[in-house]
Amino acid sequence: MRESKSNNNESLPTEEVHTPSSQRFLSFTKEAIDNPEEFWNTQAEIITWYKRWEKVLDESNSPFFRWFIGGKLNVSYNAIDRHLLAGKRNNAAYIWVAEDGAEHILTYEGLSQRVNSFAKALLDLGLKKGDVVLIYLPMILELPVAMLAAARIGVVFSVVFSGFGAQAIADRINDSGAKVVITADGGFRRGKIVELKKVVDDALNMTKSVEYVIVVKRTGHEINMVEGRDFWWDQVSNDINAKVKPEVMDSNDPLYILYTSGTTGKPKGVVHGNGGYSVWVANTLKWAFDPKPDDRWWCAADIGWVTGHSYIVFAPLFLGLTSILYEGAIDFPSPDRMWAIIERYKVNILYTSPTAIRMLMKYGDVYPQKHNLDSLRELGTVGEPINPAAWNWYYTVIGKGKCPIIDTYWQTETGGFIISPASYFGFDNLKPGSATFPMPGIDPVILDDSGNEVEPGNKGFLVIRRPWPGLMLTLNKDPDRYKAVYFSKFPGKYQTGDYAVKDEDGYFWLLGRADEVLKVAGHRIGTIEVEDALVGIANIAEAAVFGKPDPIKGDAIISFVTLKSGEVLTPAKINELKQQIRERLGPIMVPEEIHTVRVLPKTRSGKIMRRVVKAVYLNQIPGDITTLEDGASLEEIKTALETFRKEVT
Ligand code: PRX
Repeated sequence: MRESKSNNNESLPTEEVHTPSSQRFLSFTKEAIDNPEEFWNTQAEIITWYKRWEKVLDESNSPFFRWFIGGKLNVSYNAIDRHLLAGKRNNAAYIWVAEDGAEHILTYEGLSQRVNSFAKALLDLGLKKGDVVLIYLPMILELPVAMLAAARIGVVFSVVFSGFGAQAIADRINDSGAKVVITADGGFRRGKIVELKKVVDDALNMTKSVEYVIVVKRTGHEINMVEGRDFWWDQVSNDINAKVKPEVMDSNDPLYILYTSGTTGKPKGVVHGNGGYSVWVANTLKWAFDPKPDDRWWCAADIGWVTGHSYIVFAPLFLGLTSILYEGAIDFPSPDRMWAIIERYKVNILYTSPTAIRMLMKYGDVYPQKHNLDSLRELGTVGEPINPAAWNWYYTVIGKGKCPIIDTYWQTETGGFIISPASYFGFDNLKPGSATFPMPGIDPVILDDSGNEVEPGNKGFLVIRRPWPGLMLTLNKDPDRYKAVYFSKFPGKYQTGDYAVKDEDGYFWLLGRADEVLKVAGHRIGTIEVEDALVGIANIAEAAVFGKPDPIKGDAIISFVTLKSGEVLTPAKINELKQQIRERLGPIMVPEEIHTVRVLPKTRSGKIMRRVVKAVYLNQIPGDITTLEDGASLEEIKTALETFRKEVT
């Protein structure tokens, strides 16, 4: 993956756009690219190691890059114990805010007690290093506690977002071989109870590996507990004096598996390790946001996604920060909830998604104006490109023109930010809508389809030319897919799957996915994954799924299906179908629209032409349709749409 030194600094910004203060950034970044060995020898010291590494990077088994060879550490020691030793036991690790307004402050000492107690519970259940636990919890303190307890004893954890359904959980259990599931009786969302244990029970009917289920009592409503299999959290985690010695982990031992959508029906189990990942998330949080020890940091993501893993749990705890952990919806019980939390807890840095910003913007300025937001110093975004209107609103109405917008571009696979403004270096020349420049050590390039670098200002594939410590280790049980998906289109180079442009000044502009992956409210959803699910339901024979541009959510899921019987679905049947999808896959996978047609456009070899369906739907010219088998199918789509639009109006 390494390029010759002669073109080493091509990915860096041009000198002219930099203010004198950011010259520091330029030389720091140059050092990272020119002398990675020396650079990472120093930067890896952000983490406390039991044993120092012998070598920074091993590229011998490319593209399975391994960092900090021979280094030994424990992630929970770094997140907790070292802060206790540094006199910070009384500092708040989390200010937890419940949806009903209840609050709980958890100090680093309290976190230590809970993590040790729960780690002991996991050991008592017979779990050992290398075993896998699946975590399906709402945004409550037990979620980071469970992750850290697993990390403490070398157990690999896999968190499943609580908006997924039974099938999605079963698939993840079956792929990871999880022995224990950690869940809750339910969660609260918009004042209602979300059934979690029930969903786990359904999932366990489709799996074999799970021996025990640990259940947090959050809602207190009636649930089914299976004798000998299910235990209440408080029943097993009951020793507040427990002291569990952290397991000495190798830098390249797996820390967690996080499933994410790709271009096939089967989600990919992204595996992150202990050493490189920790070094990357701690440094990138420091470089991008420059948080101060006294700050209150609010990453308003869900821990079920990578953003929450890296920037609610690991990086802020490594840096000893105080985080807000909010249980509920950011516009519940009223549209000013987010602003009320910022005012009440004097939040200094807010990190959220463009979808959230667009939604809150739509409610109007009166809501933020009701609150004093002066504590804010920096604002961040992640998950999708941010459109100029949302950027400006965030900057002027929320940040009052004094908070830089830190637009962080990254992916589940990259572990942490890879392109983002770096405020640590006093970087102050942002361009609205651009994620600006690569984080130190990242070497991005924009390539055309044949792998040639495009001229500045032209769109192409965003590719990273050399490894960095946060890059995943592999895909769980599927190293071939890891190679094929990320390193084959441009051999030896990491393919992000996104389109981007680099402008004349060296700024990067992200333009969305180049593949069949949607971004629905910032959540990554594979079109084929939804299609596969639809085909398994009722008497659906075939499905074509695509994204419709949505002013708030980015993409909305639209589907066209054919039925085995050839009939057309009534609105009542469509609602039933949506309910089935909700139960199986979870609410985030439910298509906004389901249309039935008798035939879908296909190539002569029988492949459904999703792009043609989408073009007809959006009233665009469908492009090349010479391979289309039956032109009449386009008319079908138009007719289905006319009927639908008549019904809606
Ligand atoms: O398309 C890019 C988009 O989100 C994708 C990664 O999704 P996921 O793995 O779920 O991780 C989301 C949180 C890191 C990317 O391939 N994306 C993420 N951040 C940005 C973005 N698109 C534009 N600008 C961003 N800042």
